[in-house]
Amino acid sequence: TDQYVVIGNPIAHSRSPSIHQQFAALTSQSMAYERCLSPLEAFEATLHQLRLQGIRGANVTVPFKLQAAELAHWRDPRVTLAQAANTLVFEPNGQIRAYNTDGLGLVRDIAINAKTHITGQHLLLLGAGGAAAGALAPLIEQQPASIAIANRTQAKAQELVQRHQALAQQWGVPMQALALESVDSHALPRIDIVINATASSLQQASLPIKRLDQLLNPEALVYDMMYGPAAAPFLSWAQQQCPQVHLRDGLGMLVEQAAEAFAIWRGVRPPSADVLQALRQEIS
Ligand code: ATR
Repeated sequence: TDQYVVIGNPIAHSRSPSIHQQFAALTSQSMAYERCLSPLEAFEATLHQLRLQGIRGANVTVPFKLQAAELAHWRDPRVTLAQAANTLVFEPNGQIRAYNTDGLGLVRDIAINAKTHITGQHLLLLGAGGAAAGALAPLIEQQPASIAIANRTQAKAQELVQRHQALAQQWGVPMQALALESVDSHALPRIDIVINATASSLQQASLPIKRLDQLLNPEALVYDMMYGPAAAPFLSWAQQQCPQVHLRDGLGMLVEQAAEAFAIWRGVRPPSADVLQALRQEIS
């Protein structure tokens, strides 16, 4: 049986084993998928040990995505842009290939599961850390009308925009970086899709954005990359100000990024919508 793991710290609450085990059952793939807790200072040693154990592939989560990108022997262009990897392939010759499926997972969840067009829409991405970086290239490739990236530390948003400038020009997508405090309806077009990629909910902090109702299209999609209770503060804050918006947490993104990883490893696309439905019931 081919062995796979998800590496993180903490890792106990990861849903990835359950998701991949369901994918494997539904596609008749013979594989095992387990959690792997890596010591914070020993990610490289963890990779080495997994290689000795003959592991075929790994998902990587917080806080190791950056190191995973750095340590790989080959990087998908998306990994280079995001400077983060969430999917590793261990080659028989000992080499490690790195991919990032987070952004594609987000795009598939919005476009397919939530049936919301990204093409031609005005996007606002909140945050400029690893989560935001992973999402940006696939969002650009959907050709939205514009993408604004707002971050507490504006310089990080600027850096992210600069790194993606060539890709954005190639797809004809205007991008701008701004500080969270300067997000208002004068600085931006009416936003159709706002995506929270900040860790503010984890710190019980609210975002310093005023007059969300003036900023958003009344029927905008308000998306949080976190799922379940972690997404609730942001989503309910948005709903209080804009009762007609569509709310969506990141559970679908989690399942879809897993489906992309599964397809890379096994060459088979799993029925992700079915697994998302089952997981949604399990959680609520
Ligand atoms: P992740 O991999 O989850 O993106 P990260 O790289 O540490 O984690 O990035 C965290 C993101 O959440 C950043 O955009 C961070 O803003 P800064 O770049 O200014 O640090 C944002 N963030 C964290 N706490 C926040 C808060 N209380 N208010 C607003 N933004 C916050």
